[in-house]
Amino acid sequence: MNTFLLTLAALAAAWTTETNELVVRTDKPGAEIPSTMYGLFFEDINYAADGGLYAEMVKNRSFEFPQRLMGWSAFGNVSVRDDGPFERNPHYVRLEHPGHKEKRTGLENEGYFGVAFRQGESYRFSVWARVPTGQSAKLKVELIDPDTMNEEQAVATQTIDIKGTGWQKYTALLTPAQTEAKGRLRIFLDSPEGVDLEHVSLFPVDTWMGHENGLRKDLAQKLADLKPGVLRFPGGCIVEGTDLETRYRWKNTIGPVENRPLNENRWQHSFTYRFFPDYYQSCGLGFYEFFQFAEEIGAEPLPILSVGLACQFQNNSPEAHVPVDSLQPYIQDALDLIEFANGDASTPWGKVRAEMGHPEPFGMKYIGIGNEQWGPEYVERLCPFVKALRRAHPEIQIVGSAGPSPDWMKEEFDYLWKEMKHLEVDLVDEHYYSPEAWLLSQAARYDAYDRKGPKVFAGEYACHAVGKKWNHFNASLVEAAFMTGLERNADVVHMATYAPLLAHVEGWQWRPDLIWFDNLHSFASASYYVQQLYSLYRGTHVLPLTMDGKAVTGAEGQNGLYASAVCDADKYIVKVANTSDTPQRLAIAFDGLKRYEVLTEGRVLMLSSDNPDADNSLENPERIVPVEQPLHVEGHRIEAELPAKSFAVYILKKHLMK
Ligand code: AHR
Repeated sequence: MNTFLLTLAALAAAWTTETNELVVRTDKPGAEIPSTMYGLFFEDINYAADGGLYAEMVKNRSFEFPQRLMGWSAFGNVSVRDDGPFERNPHYVRLEHPGHKEKRTGLENEGYFGVAFRQGESYRFSVWARVPTGQSAKLKVELIDPDTMNEEQAVATQTIDIKGTGWQKYTALLTPAQTEAKGRLRIFLDSPEGVDLEHVSLFPVDTWMGHENGLRKDLAQKLADLKPGVLRFPGGCIVEGTDLETRYRWKNTIGPVENRPLNENRWQHSFTYRFFPDYYQSCGLGFYEFFQFAEEIGAEPLPILSVGLACQFQNNSPEAHVPVDSLQPYIQDALDLIEFANGDASTPWGKVRAEMGHPEPFGMKYIGIGNEQWGPEYVERLCPFVKALRRAHPEIQIVGSAGPSPDWMKEEFDYLWKEMKHLEVDLVDEHYYSPEAWLLSQAARYDAYDRKGPKVFAGEYACHAVGKKWNHFNASLVEAAFMTGLERNADVVHMATYAPLLAHVEGWQWRPDLIWFDNLHSFASASYYVQQLYSLYRGTHVLPLTMDGKAVTGAEGQNGLYASAVCDADKYIVKVANTSDTPQRLAIAFDGLKRYEVLTEGRVLMLSSDNPDADNSLENPERIVPVEQPLHVEGHRIEAELPAKSFAVYILKKHLMK
């Protein structure tokens, strides 16, 4: 080793020997930590719904895309018609004899970035069909590998007999003999008689909880594994739409899937460098499914509805603002939604829910009005909503918006907070996609918040690092550090949801994101594990934690450390992020323990990376995952070394001596 390196090593050693003394007051439990504290923000961005969580594999299944055969390749004698059986999806295709026995008529669907299937698994094909002549016809349905070198392209085949002029639903199970990521669905006529086809669908049989109109199991499981306390849906900007016409309308997303009208996705052409002209919302994953999923994963449902303003980033023109005196239908949508979720089966909307298969109310407690809106145009529209909701449903908590950012839209943010207090909403939705320095500087942001005003919903946040707009470990570490401030202030911050949630590796518009996937696989980012560590080790009460008498917020003299502490009935939990480039020695004292209380069975869950720019990937999905180690407990104190750039959760079991 040369002298320079030796000096560096000596300096590092000297640095690491300085012990950071942290004190947790176990006898002074503070705020109760709401069960909603860590949750999920779901938006159909990055093909998160169609092509993602929603397990439908057929794109443009109802032939309603403006280019009616987008996603399909037709061959032979195929025509599109518009007098189909489903009023809100009137288009369908007619397959007729191609005119020669050696020719064929049919269609192939390309799916979302391919139709992917696994060997030996079953897929449920379904189609609404009829024979226009009233005779019988045969349809061949195949899963194919279009690029195969084998003799046969088809890896699963079924024949369906179609009879009569009445529209009927036909189903068939396909079990492919091989796994294929970029397969296709092929349908072709196998009889002289022609057929009409509508709503062509293909789902894995093995969906989350086995629902037929179900969710992709691996993705739903990853969401469930976060043990979220709240599920916000359906966004994000898609709540607002590019214009009022394309705003999200929950009433269009319930009832039979065949008759849910298509909506354009606001993320189709948002970025000129990434176009997705085939991005539409089938609404197959609609409000019933969101409520059902929230219930299944134990999260409070938090729907966000349009306030009557289109996405102000995209379209802030007067035509994109509903006049205040014409808001009644929008307000009625909010009132009807509460009835849909909570009304008993004798109410008109409760009846709809019951008929969809959920007679019991969903127990909705929260509603958000407006996503990322700003200006007096938002406030004057929110006001009549608040009045109507308070009058009819004082039991429902209302979430208002603080606009796009307290960082680069601070003036708007401050204005909106003032107005939200004035309107007495229950929670204010704050969004921050901000760089490292801003998030780190904000670890103490809520320490000084007004305790008497509305609570905070950190509804969208993520570290968007300078020059590195993708998932990487250091961004996750910054989030972990920032989140100590959320946790410490659980009396004022009641919900926090990282955003966005899901992204298709071939179809993203926005990154970083929490979970990535292709058609067959998925992986969790390092940020996911940060969220999961907070959520699984949420605790029930905040405990005061200090270093030299001050909260640990990365302040001067705190060596880049950020920390918070909580407890539950049988544990003390301390979270510490070391954002510095050097290892840090920690001594954590648990003061104020009862005389008969001892600490036993310590363990630490550590998230770190040898490369701050690294993240997990499809190829290496577990490069960065929490690693568990035992932790030596010495009386009422632990000592530990926290590696440079790492996040640790120290968990100590309480034991009461008899
Ligand atoms: O999460 C992506 C987008 O960021 C959301 O749609 C919007 O609310 C915010 O601007």
